[in-house]
Amino acid sequence: MHRPLFLEGEAGVGKTALAHALAEVTGRPMYRLQCYEGLEASQALYDWDFGRQLLHLRAAEAAGSGGDTAELEAGLYDRRFLLARPLLQALEDAPSVLLVDEIDRADDEFEAFLLELLSDFTISIPELGTVRAAVPPLVVLTSNRTREVHDALKRRCLYHWLEHPDFEREVAILRSRLPQVTEELARQVARATAKLRSLDLLKPPGIAEAMDWATALHTLGARELDPDTAARTLGAVLKYREDTDRVHALTRGALFG
Ligand SMILES: Nc1ncnc2c1ncn2[C@@H]1O[C@H](COP(=O)(O)OP(=O)(O)O)[C@@H](O)[C@H]1O
Ligand SMILES: [Mg+2]
Repeated sequence: MHRPLFLEGEAGVGKTALAHALAEVTGRPMYRLQCYEGLEASQALYDWDFGRQLLHLRAAEAAGSGGDTAELEAGLYDRRFLLARPLLQALEDAPSVLLVDEIDRADDEFEAFLLELLSDFTISIPELGTVRAAVPPLVVLTSNRTREVHDALKRRCLYHWLEHPDFEREVAILRSRLPQVTEELARQVARATAKLRSLDLLKPPGIAEAMDWATALHTLGARELDPDTAARTLGAVLKYREDTDRVHALTRGALFG
């Protein structure tokens, strides 16, 4: 449908991973734009390479071909002095996958700009002309929902809420990503991680934390996740002091093992 996929869900549920997987199964190159506060169009689209332009001028000067200023100036806006950023790269290298990651971190102006780009997939560069994607990219937008993204942008997209994986899927992910970890340990880590998620913590653990936990246990040579080992390795899975305190305060035997 040439509509962007808008993925929302807590941090660590696999939104970014989904875009990577999409690029892998379609065999397309992926371009990722990581959003942040203050992100501007120039960082997302293109920039002129000032350093190389200057070098070009110096070289022309040294060669003594300083004559025609207009020609020299025009030569500065050649494609080879253009630094393509992810959005332009995704259009130029079509068909591609474009990941606009954590759009909730960018501000309103950038969202409005993105909305425009996503409606016609063209970029106009005053000095060069218009770039249009031969085939529109598969676009994945993600949000950790630290704020609500505007309705206008959502309306353009197909929406999907991503949950934490269920127990069997998490075990499968741990097994495929960490083949060195035993099935039993993977199951125990998945079970304990699911329990932690049900505790209404400040930062419920994502899949990355479950993988870190399993790796830590494996590295320590632990064969199973008993309450004592769990308590000593909690730093792999919880990243807030309040969360760690709460889990320690609960009867550990009931939570792990
Ligand atoms: N379905 C999955 N299969 C394999 N690995 C996954 C899957 N979902 C997530 N992961 C892994 O879990 C970790 C966290 O996922 P990530 O995409 O960074 O989460 P998010 O972008 O939602 O914060 C990554 O290391 C990712 O590779
Ligand atoms: Mg992510």
